[in-house]
Amino acid sequence: MKVRKVTTHVLNEMKLHGEKISMLTAYDYSMAKILDNAGIDVILVGDSASNVMAGFDTTLPITLDAMIYHASSVVRGVKRALVVVDMPFGTYQGNSKMALQSAIRIMKETGAHAVKMEGGEEIEESVKRIISAGIPVMGHLGLTPQSIYKFGTYTVRAREKAEAEKLINDAHVLQNAGCFSIVLEKIPAKLAEEVTSQLRMPVIGIGAGNKVDGQVLVLHDMLGITQEFSPRFLRRYANLFDLITDAVRNYIDDVKSMDFPNENEQY
Ligand code: KIV
Repeated sequence: MKVRKVTTHVLNEMKLHGEKISMLTAYDYSMAKILDNAGIDVILVGDSASNVMAGFDTTLPITLDAMIYHASSVVRGVKRALVVVDMPFGTYQGNSKMALQSAIRIMKETGAHAVKMEGGEEIEESVKRIISAGIPVMGHLGLTPQSIYKFGTYTVRAREKAEAEKLINDAHVLQNAGCFSIVLEKIPAKLAEEVTSQLRMPVIGIGAGNKVDGQVLVLHDMLGITQEFSPRFLRRYANLFDLITDAVRNYIDDVKSMDFPNENEQY
């Protein structure tokens, strides 16, 4: 059966028709295949891989090579969804030539469809240069985890007027630079609604209320694999931590008691 692939144009049409966009992260082939088969619109190979796959405290340490490894694994599992890859910290800020080289490596070596970058007018030149090479860019404003040491905390961003005004201006800068979409992370719902109504491009929220064009969550959080992370915006759709723990405990018991393998499970 021919699958209608999700493209940046399809996302635009979805915004125009008021159809919400579903987006989740994935970092490997098997999970990406499950998500794609379930009908997810966009898969983000997030630099949250640094936390949930590699066990770092922040997203800063993950390398371009590691992101490329995760993204190429994801792409092999996907037939329909749009695959967006986070450009990791240090591969695009402050140097548009390096930014383009990093984005080209991602596109060439993974087969993904777009990249995502954190920041507003500070990264405008890099965004424009990447888009001029034909690479679609998704922006990311609000709580931008690559700047955690500047913010100092993971609390809600843009509650104050000055930061809210900067965010609105940055969203327009990114749209004018040619971004096809932006993520708004952990900002007041009213502000996200205002930004969404002002922009032509689709706005994907995480902790930004439901008056945006779509939602994204980190897969390991929504599946209940991570336990320690419990922000208000997170809805857990499963408790895989307990499910996997029970399965592993049962396996251990069966091995110890020699219940596994039984006669039917041997040659
Ligand atoms: O890295 C990531 O998973 C993200 C999402 C939280 C939007 O950027």
